[in-house]
Amino acid sequence: MITVPKKKLAVVTLGCQMNKHDSERIAGLLSGEYDLTQRREEADFLVINTCSVRDKAEQKFFSLLGRLRPLKEANKKLVIGVAGCVAQDQARAIIKRESMVDLVFGPRALENVPAMLERFGRTGEPQVDTSDTGIVDEFSMSRESKISGWVSIMEGCNNYCSYCIVPYTRGGERSRSPESIVKEIRSLADEGYREVILLGQNVNSYGNGLLKKDLTDFPELLEKVDKIDGIERIRFVTSHPKDLSAKLTEAMANLPKVAPALHLPMQSGSDKILKRMNRMYTISHYYEKVEMLRKKVADIALTTDLIVGFPGETDKDFEATFNAVKNIEFENIFLFKYSPRRGTTAAKFSDQVSGFTTSERFERITQLQKEITDKKYGKWVGEEVEILVEGRSKKERARYTGRTPQNLIVHFQSDIDYTGEIINIRIDRAGKYSLDGQMENPISRG
Ligand code: 5AD
Ligand code: SF4
Repeated sequence: MITVPKKKLAVVTLGCQMNKHDSERIAGLLSGEYDLTQRREEADFLVINTCSVRDKAEQKFFSLLGRLRPLKEANKKLVIGVAGCVAQDQARAIIKRESMVDLVFGPRALENVPAMLERFGRTGEPQVDTSDTGIVDEFSMSRESKISGWVSIMEGCNNYCSYCIVPYTRGGERSRSPESIVKEIRSLADEGYREVILLGQNVNSYGNGLLKKDLTDFPELLEKVDKIDGIERIRFVTSHPKDLSAKLTEAMANLPKVAPALHLPMQSGSDKILKRMNRMYTISHYYEKVEMLRKKVADIALTTDLIVGFPGETDKDFEATFNAVKNIEFENIFLFKYSPRRGTTAAKFSDQVSGFTTSERFERITQLQKEITDKKYGKWVGEEVEILVEGRSKKERARYTGRTPQNLIVHFQSDIDYTGEIINIRIDRAGKYSLDGQMENPISRG
């Protein structure tokens, strides 16, 4: 029998975890014909999965495209595809302006990629697809990690925060059926995965729009996933504070596999700004949720997203955000400078904040959080923690990396490979965004 060698696919992913997931899905969709490669220069099909959440991310795509030009010139057969949110938002312009791009497809049209490739191969005509194939329940994935698997449970967002482009690029909320999610996670467990990260723009709205027979809310879905043998840890992102319920807090407190870590984007500490952002909660509501979580879920680690320089943000509004960060003491924050996005409500606000003021505010919060993170990480020194080992460090052979239930990264030395196992580590040093430790009673496998 003659086997035809597979072609090579390279995927460059910019942006959020949803894009990472989509890249793994594209690789899964094409796995019959293409093998993944990390080396762009040997690719037959190169996909750039783009992000448009801020201008900087969008510019990253255009400069990457420029850097890839020599590859296309050297190999005329190379097919270049642009995916993701910039593709959705600017498909026609990309095809018109960038002659090196052959395929442009949005995040809701992934299923159509094999057919687009085939049509392009046949006709040589550039292909564009920004349609919505609807939620797809069953699909294959080519995942990078063999230990921790991202599992999409819902897509899209109905919240329309006034600064955000996502509801326009990724569309409205759609949920996968609980059966197909559980089925996917069961097969991950069979393949040896130990952790799943349930993924959605707003996981707390999971279940909206499901058929009557499938009706399940997010805490009920967690309960189903918690029962799956082989999976030891469950995480999820992202939660909207307005939808974070007492029921979910109870689920986090009571379900043994649900990790005590929550990413809860606050965005601002000022009620005036939260209102202008259309966030639908006040800062005191946010404080109440944090209090409830910390009371019920032992040792919970909290992280957040924040935007500084939102239109109309005065010194007083900024101080409210600064104080909230100081009072709440998150393990980590993801801090962004406001970036006006085409078509969003906030882009039309007339009181935009100057770049200078925004940068100053950015620096002040960065400095404050650095001290908080140091203090929070420092608290773990001397403690014994259970980590799920994710693999060997790329730089050092005997150095491994894992994560605590709180999602803190831990490095340790070992001559034995414990990848995929949960082991105990005594923390002896806190680094910048990670902890260092030693194995407790190393097990000999000689
Ligand atoms: N400008 C700055 N930050 C933004 N985010 C979303 N849209 C914008 C924007 N226009 C941030 C929010 C969100 C995170 C994923 O990105 O903080 O939670
Ligand atoms: Fe954007 Fe708000 Fe939806 Fe998050 S909740 S994706 S910030 S619109």
